[in-house]
Amino acid sequence: MIIELAQKNDARKIAEIHKTEIVGGFLSSLSINFLEKIYIAVIENDFCVVAKNNNEIVGFIAGTKNIKNLYKYFLGKYFFISIIMLLPKLFDIRKIFETLFYSKEESDLPKAELLTIAVKKEFQMEGIAGKMLKFFILEMKNKNVKEFKVLVGSNLQNAIKFYEKNGFKFVKETNVHSNKKSLIYVYDLSN
Ligand SMILES: CC(C)(COP(=O)(O)OP(=O)(O)OC[C@H]1O[C@@H](n2cnc3c(N)ncnc32)[C@H](O)[C@@H]1OP(=O)(O)O)[C@@H](O)C(=O)NCCC(=O)NCCS
Repeated sequence: MIIELAQKNDARKIAEIHKTEIVGGFLSSLSINFLEKIYIAVIENDFCVVAKNNNEIVGFIAGTKNIKNLYKYFLGKYFFISIIMLLPKLFDIRKIFETLFYSKEESDLPKAELLTIAVKKEFQMEGIAGKMLKFFILEMKNKNVKEFKVLVGSNLQNAIKFYEKNGFKFVKETNVHSNKKSLIYVYDLSN
Protein backbone atom coordinates (compact mmCIF):
# COMPACT_ATOMS: atom_id res chain seq x y z
CA MET A 1 0.00 0.00 0.00
CA ILE A 2 1.40 3.37 -1.02
CA ILE A 3 0.24 6.58 0.68
CA GLU A 4 1.01 9.75 -1.26
CA LEU A 5 -0.30 13.12 -2.40
CA ALA A 6 -2.86 12.95 -5.20
CA GLN A 7 -2.08 14.29 -8.65
CA LYS A 8 -4.62 15.95 -10.92
CA ASN A 9 -5.16 12.77 -12.92
CA ASP A 10 -6.23 10.98 -9.71
CA ALA A 11 -9.30 13.25 -9.38
CA ARG A 12 -11.61 11.03 -11.46
CA LYS A 13 -10.99 7.94 -9.31
CA ILE A 14 -11.34 10.00 -6.11
CA ALA A 15 -14.69 11.31 -7.38
CA GLU A 16 -15.83 7.75 -8.12
CA ILE A 17 -14.92 6.56 -4.61
CA HIS A 18 -16.66 9.61 -3.14
CA LYS A 19 -19.86 8.85 -5.08
CA THR A 20 -19.83 5.17 -4.12
CA GLU A 21 -18.83 5.38 -0.47
CA ILE A 22 -20.35 8.66 0.77
CA VAL A 23 -23.98 7.81 0.27
CA GLY A 24 -26.66 10.44 0.70
CA GLY A 25 -24.47 13.55 0.68
CA PHE A 26 -25.23 16.31 -1.80
CA LEU A 27 -21.84 16.07 -3.47
CA SER A 28 -22.57 12.43 -4.28
CA SER A 29 -25.67 13.55 -6.17
CA LEU A 30 -23.60 15.71 -8.52
CA SER A 31 -22.42 14.32 -11.84
CA ILE A 32 -19.13 12.49 -11.78
CA ASN A 33 -17.66 15.11 -14.16
CA PHE A 34 -18.52 17.95 -11.81
CA LEU A 35 -17.27 16.10 -8.73
CA GLU A 36 -14.02 15.41 -10.58
CA LYS A 37 -13.62 19.16 -11.17
CA ILE A 38 -14.12 19.84 -7.47
CA TYR A 39 -11.34 17.39 -6.63
CA ILE A 40 -9.06 18.86 -9.30
CA ALA A 41 -9.54 22.23 -7.56
CA VAL A 42 -8.81 20.67 -4.15
CA ILE A 43 -5.64 19.01 -5.49
CA GLU A 44 -4.44 22.19 -7.20
CA ASN A 45 -5.35 24.69 -4.48
CA ASP A 46 -5.01 22.52 -1.38
CA PHE A 47 -4.23 18.82 -1.11
CA CYS A 48 -5.57 15.33 -1.16
CA VAL A 49 -3.90 12.17 0.22
CA VAL A 50 -4.51 8.87 -1.57
CA ALA A 51 -3.88 5.22 -0.72
CA LYS A 52 -2.87 3.05 -3.69
CA ASN A 53 -2.98 -0.73 -3.84
CA ASN A 54 -1.23 -2.13 -6.93
CA ASN A 55 -1.33 1.35 -8.44
CA GLU A 56 -5.10 1.64 -7.95
CA ILE A 57 -6.57 4.28 -5.62
CA VAL A 58 -8.55 2.62 -2.83
CA GLY A 59 -9.03 5.58 -0.47
CA PHE A 60 -8.47 9.31 -0.05
CA ILE A 61 -8.59 12.24 2.37
CA ALA A 62 -9.16 15.77 1.06
CA GLY A 63 -8.15 18.83 3.07
CA THR A 64 -8.03 22.59 2.87
CA LYS A 65 -6.25 25.35 4.78
CA ASN A 66 -9.21 27.63 4.14
CA ILE A 67 -12.52 26.69 2.52
CA LYS A 68 -13.23 30.28 1.39
CA ASN A 69 -10.03 30.37 -0.64
CA LEU A 70 -10.91 26.99 -2.10
CA TYR A 71 -14.30 28.03 -3.43
CA LYS A 72 -12.88 31.30 -4.76
CA TYR A 73 -10.30 29.26 -6.63
CA PHE A 74 -12.98 26.88 -7.90
CA LEU A 75 -15.21 29.73 -9.06
CA GLY A 76 -12.33 31.42 -10.82
CA LYS A 77 -11.54 28.24 -12.69
CA TYR A 78 -14.99 26.79 -13.38
CA PHE A 79 -17.39 29.74 -13.14
CA PHE A 80 -19.34 29.18 -16.36
CA ILE A 81 -19.49 25.43 -16.12
CA SER A 82 -20.68 25.78 -12.50
CA ILE A 83 -23.54 28.03 -13.54
CA ILE A 84 -24.60 25.67 -16.31
CA MET A 85 -24.30 22.49 -14.28
CA LEU A 86 -25.76 23.78 -11.04
CA LEU A 87 -28.61 25.90 -12.35
CA PRO A 88 -31.06 22.98 -12.35
CA LYS A 89 -30.26 22.32 -8.71
CA LEU A 90 -30.81 25.96 -7.75
CA PHE A 91 -27.83 25.90 -5.44
CA ASP A 92 -25.03 28.38 -5.39
CA ILE A 93 -21.40 27.43 -5.40
CA ARG A 94 -20.80 28.72 -1.90
CA LYS A 95 -23.50 26.39 -0.58
CA ILE A 96 -21.82 23.52 -2.30
CA PHE A 97 -18.60 24.07 -0.48
CA GLU A 98 -20.15 25.09 2.81
CA THR A 99 -22.97 22.60 2.94
CA LEU A 100 -21.82 19.76 0.83
CA PHE A 101 -18.46 19.47 2.36
CA TYR A 102 -20.49 19.86 5.58
CA SER A 103 -18.72 23.13 6.07
CA LYS A 104 -20.06 26.15 7.83
CA GLU A 105 -18.61 29.44 8.85
CA GLU A 106 -17.87 29.21 12.54
CA SER A 107 -15.53 32.01 13.52
CA ASP A 108 -14.44 30.25 16.72
CA LEU A 109 -13.33 27.14 14.83
CA PRO A 110 -10.11 26.50 12.92
CA LYS A 111 -10.15 27.52 9.25
CA ALA A 112 -8.27 24.43 8.15
CA GLU A 113 -10.48 21.45 7.52
CA LEU A 114 -10.56 17.78 6.68
CA LEU A 115 -13.16 17.92 3.90
CA THR A 116 -13.83 14.31 3.01
CA ILE A 117 -12.46 10.86 3.76
CA ALA A 118 -13.42 7.55 2.21
CA VAL A 119 -12.01 4.07 1.70
CA LYS A 120 -13.47 1.58 -0.77
CA LYS A 121 -15.72 -0.84 1.08
CA GLU A 122 -13.65 -3.94 0.30
CA PHE A 123 -10.56 -2.26 1.81
CA GLN A 124 -12.17 -0.87 4.99
CA MET A 125 -11.11 -1.93 8.49
CA GLU A 126 -7.54 -2.65 7.36
CA GLY A 127 -6.02 0.49 8.85
CA ILE A 128 -5.86 2.36 5.52
CA ALA A 129 -7.70 5.49 6.70
CA GLY A 130 -5.47 5.54 9.78
CA LYS A 131 -2.33 5.49 7.61
CA MET A 132 -3.70 8.20 5.33
CA LEU A 133 -4.57 10.31 8.37
CA LYS A 134 -0.96 10.20 9.63
CA PHE A 135 0.22 11.46 6.21
CA PHE A 136 -2.57 14.07 6.17
CA ILE A 137 -1.56 15.37 9.61
CA LEU A 138 2.09 15.73 8.50
CA GLU A 139 0.95 17.66 5.45
CA MET A 140 -1.14 19.99 7.63
CA LYS A 141 1.93 20.48 9.89
CA ASN A 142 4.05 21.34 6.83
CA LYS A 143 1.50 24.02 6.01
CA ASN A 144 1.90 25.45 9.55
CA VAL A 145 -1.63 24.49 10.52
CA LYS A 146 -2.07 24.27 14.31
CA GLU A 147 -5.48 22.60 14.33
CA PHE A 148 -8.14 21.56 11.85
CA LYS A 149 -11.81 20.71 12.03
CA VAL A 150 -14.05 18.11 10.47
CA LEU A 151 -17.81 18.17 10.16
CA VAL A 152 -19.42 14.77 10.05
CA GLY A 153 -23.06 13.78 9.55
CA SER A 154 -24.47 12.32 12.75
CA ASN A 155 -25.58 9.25 10.76
CA LEU A 156 -22.00 8.38 9.71
CA GLN A 157 -21.23 6.25 12.74
CA ASN A 158 -18.16 4.48 11.31
CA ALA A 159 -16.53 7.82 10.52
CA ILE A 160 -17.41 9.17 13.99
CA LYS A 161 -15.81 6.10 15.61
CA PHE A 162 -12.78 6.58 13.37
CA TYR A 163 -12.34 10.24 14.36
CA GLU A 164 -12.79 9.54 18.07
CA LYS A 165 -10.34 6.64 17.97
CA ASN A 166 -7.78 8.86 16.25
CA GLY A 167 -7.78 11.70 18.76
CA PHE A 168 -10.31 14.17 17.32
CA LYS A 169 -12.16 16.06 20.06
CA PHE A 170 -15.90 16.68 19.82
CA VAL A 171 -16.70 20.42 19.89
CA LYS A 172 -20.38 20.87 19.10
CA GLU A 173 -23.39 19.91 17.04
CA THR A 174 -24.53 21.99 14.12
CA ASN A 175 -27.33 22.02 11.58
CA VAL A 176 -26.29 22.38 7.99
CA HIS A 177 -28.49 22.51 4.93
CA SER A 178 -32.01 21.03 5.31
CA ASN A 179 -31.54 20.73 9.06
CA LYS A 180 -29.27 17.77 8.77
CA LYS A 181 -27.51 17.26 12.08
CA SER A 182 -23.72 17.24 11.96
CA LEU A 183 -21.03 16.95 14.58
CA ILE A 184 -17.94 19.13 14.59
CA TYR A 185 -14.65 17.66 15.74
CA VAL A 186 -11.27 19.36 16.01
CA TYR A 187 -7.82 17.81 15.74
CA ASP A 188 -5.08 19.63 17.66
CA LEU A 189 -1.69 19.13 15.98
CA SER A 190 0.24 20.06 19.11
CA ASN A 191 -0.86 16.73 20.66
C1 LIG B 1 -14.50 6.21 7.95
C2 LIG B 1 -13.66 5.33 7.03
C3 LIG B 1 -12.88 6.23 6.08
C4 LIG B 1 -12.67 4.52 7.88
O1 LIG B 1 -11.78 3.84 6.99
P1 LIG B 1 -11.02 2.48 7.40
O2 LIG B 1 -9.85 2.33 6.48
O3 LIG B 1 -11.97 1.38 7.47
O4 LIG B 1 -10.51 2.85 8.87
P2 LIG B 1 -9.30 2.17 9.67
O5 LIG B 1 -9.23 0.72 9.31
O6 LIG B 1 -8.05 2.97 9.51
O7 LIG B 1 -9.77 2.37 11.16
C5 LIG B 1 -10.73 1.53 11.73
C6 LIG B 1 -11.40 2.25 12.87
O8 LIG B 1 -12.38 3.15 12.35
C7 LIG B 1 -13.65 2.92 13.00
N1 LIG B 1 -14.50 2.15 12.07
C8 LIG B 1 -14.39 2.22 10.72
N2 LIG B 1 -15.30 1.39 10.16
C9 LIG B 1 -16.00 0.80 11.15
C10 LIG B 1 -17.04 -0.16 11.19
N3 LIG B 1 -17.57 -0.67 10.06
N4 LIG B 1 -17.50 -0.57 12.38
C11 LIG B 1 -16.98 -0.07 13.51
N5 LIG B 1 -15.96 0.83 13.54
C12 LIG B 1 -15.47 1.26 12.38
C13 LIG B 1 -13.29 2.17 14.25
O9 LIG B 1 -12.87 3.10 15.22
C14 LIG B 1 -12.12 1.32 13.80
O10 LIG B 1 -11.24 0.96 14.84
P3 LIG B 1 -11.62 -0.20 15.89
O11 LIG B 1 -12.08 -1.36 15.09
O12 LIG B 1 -10.36 -0.42 16.67
O13 LIG B 1 -12.70 0.36 16.74
C15 LIG B 1 -14.54 4.34 6.23
O14 LIG B 1 -15.40 3.68 7.14
C16 LIG B 1 -15.37 4.97 5.11
O15 LIG B 1 -14.88 5.19 4.00
N6 LIG B 1 -16.68 5.26 5.40
C17 LIG B 1 -17.58 5.81 4.35
C18 LIG B 1 -17.29 7.25 4.02
C19 LIG B 1 -17.59 8.21 5.17
O16 LIG B 1 -18.53 8.04 5.92
N7 LIG B 1 -16.75 9.27 5.27
C20 LIG B 1 -16.86 10.26 6.32
C21 LIG B 1 -17.57 11.49 5.88
S1 LIG B 1 -16.63 12.61 4.94
